[in-house]
Amino acid sequence: MKIIRTKNYEEMSFEAAKIMAAQMVLKPQSVLGLATGSTPIGMYEQLVKWNKEGKLDFSQIRSVNLDEYCGLDGENDQSYRYFMNHHLFNHVNIDINNTHVPNGKAVDTKAECERYDALIESLGGTDIQVLGIGPDGHIGFNEPDAVFTKSTHRVELDPSTVEANARFFASIDDVPRFALTMGMGGIMSAKKILLMANGTKKKEILEKALFGPITPEIPASILQLHPDVTVICCVEND
Ligand code: PGA
Repeated sequence: MKIIRTKNYEEMSFEAAKIMAAQMVLKPQSVLGLATGSTPIGMYEQLVKWNKEGKLDFSQIRSVNLDEYCGLDGENDQSYRYFMNHHLFNHVNIDINNTHVPNGKAVDTKAECERYDALIESLGGTDIQVLGIGPDGHIGFNEPDAVFTKSTHRVELDPSTVEANARFFASIDDVPRFALTMGMGGIMSAKKILLMANGTKKKEILEKALFGPITPEIPASILQLHPDVTVICCVEND
């Protein structure tokens, strides 16, 4: 595991964008595993900038996102499909048909989860998976549990996640209580993993995840078992 400590959010975003860009230049048809949340926004901004400057080509890129809220469609500005379109896909030369986010409106969630795992497999897995970390140690929406769940699945959000994500909604009551998330199998099958953490509120959970026991109670701790993880963090200041 490689840990890069940065001075501030801007430097964290730039370092992460450099790793993503290197992956895309080395393999123009890369499968990118993408994440939402406040942490990767600066990285996406940098990738958009390089694309606009003609330095980075998305034309052959495929993408697979980690998760989506149940009950929200892509038109809803709190959905993760909307987030991805808004922060990245609408601004670069990616073919939108090559971008994938679980369908939060699926009536048959089991079938949707199976479809999503089959899709990831058909793409040959992700070349690089971007991750943030939740206040409870979640990655994607894999919440603390008694076991690690391998497949894409429907999950009930932990109260701390609902509380943390309420900042994006008009009120905490508007935060969906369920989500579909890629499981640990999908995440861990990525060839490379890029974990980003920003802000002092992430310091303690990041230390537990990287240096504590490997346990499904701290979902991100499973990353200790992955052979190619880069952590880019700025957790000493806000
Ligand atoms: P954040 O969320 O980037 O908004 O802190 C990370 C996460 O919950 O995975």
